[in-house]
Amino acid sequence: MNMNYRRTRLTPILRNLTKEVVISTEKLIQPLFAVEGISKKEIIPGLTGVFRETETSLLAQIESDLENGVNSFLLFGVPNQKSEKKFDYSFTSNQISAIKKRFGSDVFLSVDVCLCSYTSHGHCGILNDSMDHVINDQTVKALAESALAYAQAGADCVAPSDMMDGRIRAIREILAKNKLDQTLLMSYSAKFNSGFYGPFRVAADSAPKGEMKLKDRASYQIDPANPTDAYRSSLRDAEEGADILMVKPGLPYLDVIKDLTSKIPLPWAVYEVSGEYAAIELMAEQNLINRERAHLEAWTAFFRAGANMVITYGARNARQWISKQ
Ligand code: PBG
Repeated sequence: MNMNYRRTRLTPILRNLTKEVVISTEKLIQPLFAVEGISKKEIIPGLTGVFRETETSLLAQIESDLENGVNSFLLFGVPNQKSEKKFDYSFTSNQISAIKKRFGSDVFLSVDVCLCSYTSHGHCGILNDSMDHVINDQTVKALAESALAYAQAGADCVAPSDMMDGRIRAIREILAKNKLDQTLLMSYSAKFNSGFYGPFRVAADSAPKGEMKLKDRASYQIDPANPTDAYRSSLRDAEEGADILMVKPGLPYLDVIKDLTSKIPLPWAVYEVSGEYAAIELMAEQNLINRERAHLEAWTAFFRAGANMVITYGARNARQWISKQ
């Protein structure tokens, strides 16, 4: 006799009852870009529905996101003034206070901690004089100071994406010293040196630029061919005090998600990065695929592989996309 597996696939009610992965907006985190010195919100090539926001459009956007069921955000602050060594965190801090003043605990606000939007050269840290290397410890010090500024401004969570060594411990310590023991730390612990970050670097004004020897982020981000490095780094960040770990990007690293989530018992986020998101959008624009289906299928894969939460540019559209299925 043939085994009958089609009976449970017959109707929408049955398909919903048997579903192993259920996606809802409560499991999604929406990235936000706050850009200093622009007078109108700006579109981002490839990231339909996501904008470089002004101080005022940012709050309006969050209000509309809340109406669409999204209450968790990851903020990127993009200051006007770039520098090589001394950074001013006040623009980003001001956005954080404005958000928390207006929305309070209705939103869970994570803030990206990195220097790539602050440096004149676009690298994620402070370079040595010959500009061929990111100096680890000086960078960690600056990162910890920025994380403290964001936490003091009201961030619920700080999320270092720089990939320096020892930054989780340094941030945890500076937060503890300042009695900020309820601030979460989400580490981009398995962040790969990916070719899929293109649209983001336009949005965050953070591509390595100018005449210098250090052309890319290969000397600090993880090599895509090294899952063991991702494991080692995540284990270390867990030991140093991270509350949430992350794999980034998502789709090209499903094996890593599956492996790390089963090995390290902490909550795991997956970041569906700008290039992954834009790939779907651009195909949909060419009528090659159905936008809603493709986005939901990618998110389903992340949860199937073990993610607890997904950071995606499409969070604010999720409810509408789900209702169309
Ligand atoms: C900054 C940072 C990057 C992303 C998040 N934080 C890019 C990078 O390393 O250049 C990528 C996000 C995306 O592509 O959506 N260090």
